[in-house]
Amino acid sequence: MALGLLLLLLVVWMLPIVAPSATFSRSSTWIHAGLQDLARLDALALRATSIGSSSATRRHHHRRHSGGGGNKSEEQHRDELLLLRQLPPSASICKQLRGLSPGQEKLCGLSQDHMPWVARGAKSAIDECQHQFQHRRWNCSTTTLADSEVATDQNKKHQAAAIFGPVLESGSRETAFVHAIGAAGLVYTLARACRDGQLSSCGCSRGSRPKDLNREWIWGGCGDNLEYGYKFAQSFIDVREREQRHKRRSHEHGRSLVNLHNNEAGRRAVIKRSKVTCKCHGVSGSCSLITCWQQLASFREIGDYLLDKYDGATEVKVNRRGRLSIKDPRYSLPTANDLVYLDDSPNYCFANSSLGSLGTRGRTCNRTSTGIDGCNLLCCGRGYNTQKSIISERCDCKFHWCCEVQCSTCNKSLDVYTCK
Ligand SMILES: *[C@@H]1O[C@H](CO)[C@@H](O)[C@H](O)[C@H]1NC(C)=O
Ligand SMILES: *[C@@H]1O[C@H](CO)[C@@H](O)[C@H](O)[C@H]1NC(C)=O
Ligand SMILES: *[C@@H]1O[C@H](CO)[C@@H](O)[C@H](O)[C@H]1NC(C)=O
Ligand SMILES: *[C@@H]1O[C@H](CO)[C@@H](O)[C@H](O)[C@H]1NC(C)=O
Ligand SMILES: *[C@@H]1O[C@H](CO)[C@@H](O)[C@H](O)[C@H]1NC(C)=O
Repeated sequence: MALGLLLLLLVVWMLPIVAPSATFSRSSTWIHAGLQDLARLDALALRATSIGSSSATRRHHHRRHSGGGGNKSEEQHRDELLLLRQLPPSASICKQLRGLSPGQEKLCGLSQDHMPWVARGAKSAIDECQHQFQHRRWNCSTTTLADSEVATDQNKKHQAAAIFGPVLESGSRETAFVHAIGAAGLVYTLARACRDGQLSSCGCSRGSRPKDLNREWIWGGCGDNLEYGYKFAQSFIDVREREQRHKRRSHEHGRSLVNLHNNEAGRRAVIKRSKVTCKCHGVSGSCSLITCWQQLASFREIGDYLLDKYDGATEVKVNRRGRLSIKDPRYSLPTANDLVYLDDSPNYCFANSSLGSLGTRGRTCNRTSTGIDGCNLLCCGRGYNTQKSIISERCDCKFHWCCEVQCSTCNKSLDVYTCK
């Protein structure tokens, strides 16, 4: 494992020499490549299950109906991992994925077994972003990926593959959040994959014992491998910025620095939110033996944390020495855990395709809220439409001995408000 990591780091180190001075679309990211890979994996998994046993068909049934961002049972999760492992390796996939920089393409080739987790990291990052921003003017909307998105020829590959639209082309707060949550997603899935024994290059965490842990407790167990997740995510995501050759002190150069800062903040968020978890062992709950290990928080907690960081993000500029410095000296300096941004956000109230803004027309708002989800702010003062909608739900449920619950269906009228 140590050797593999060393190799990886070596490759990253050598890249500026190997790769020609590269410029590629700002608005495309590894997240885009990850989603394409996920589409491919889903298609393969579907094929695998349709020719598989009936139990596999049942699994597939599960998968399809589990819904995007919802909870997955441990069983479903295990089934998915099993499927992923059975997939044939594809040597050419790294070349086909759009959105990878030349360095990322090389890392993809060197660690193909990591790619399903890169894909999963991308998916959970986007799901979380859309959850966190569901009631805001910018709602983290992405363009949908068709199957045909997996590029078949090399020429298509470097076309702007803009899953978030042009939003990522500026160094705005939103860009900062997307970079941070993306990096966090990758650290997260890899740390868990290592723990679950899904990768040959890593296993349980070897993190050192916390100093303040009770001396009688045992530091052991199989922890999430945050160290490995952090290192791989750092090599894989940051290489993109490191291989860009922008003029020092240019705005473009500043954007690379900002992206690197926010990538780091995202990776740290995962570590910062992780917890020491302990378990009792012993005869009939006597708790004579306690073991502890490092465990990831839920990804939702990390999303909440990063949304706080987004709200408190600091505006920076590129100074004369080509470094980032704080724009308004009255504010305190951001730490490595905080998000920073260079450019003001566009006005997301109105649709403007060149800015990647969809506008808030048609968005559902909350009439009684005074917050950003309220009709006043979300609709930018344009007013809202009211629509009656009927929802049916189960009601008057009665328990009949034994063992049956009978319910009737009730219709409830509900007002839905949408922005003009
Ligand atoms: C997901 O699981 C957590 C804890 O396991 C639970 O608190 C939460 O309500 C679940 N959410 C959904 C949407 O089922
Ligand atoms: C975001 O808002 C737009 C309308 O402005 C809507 O079409 C889109 O479905 C929303 N996306 C998400 C993920 O909620
Ligand atoms: C979209 O935004 C750009 C940049 O701010 C501006 O120049 C352009 O006029 C806007 N387009 C529309 C249709 O508002
Ligand atoms: C609307 O906002 C109010 C006040 O913030 C809140 O109590 C209520 O639950 C919200 N309604 C919906 C449907 O989200
Ligand atoms: C509820 O609405 C449905 C159609 O939307 C209707 O068929 C049904 O009879 C209604 N039920 C009641 C209890 O009003």
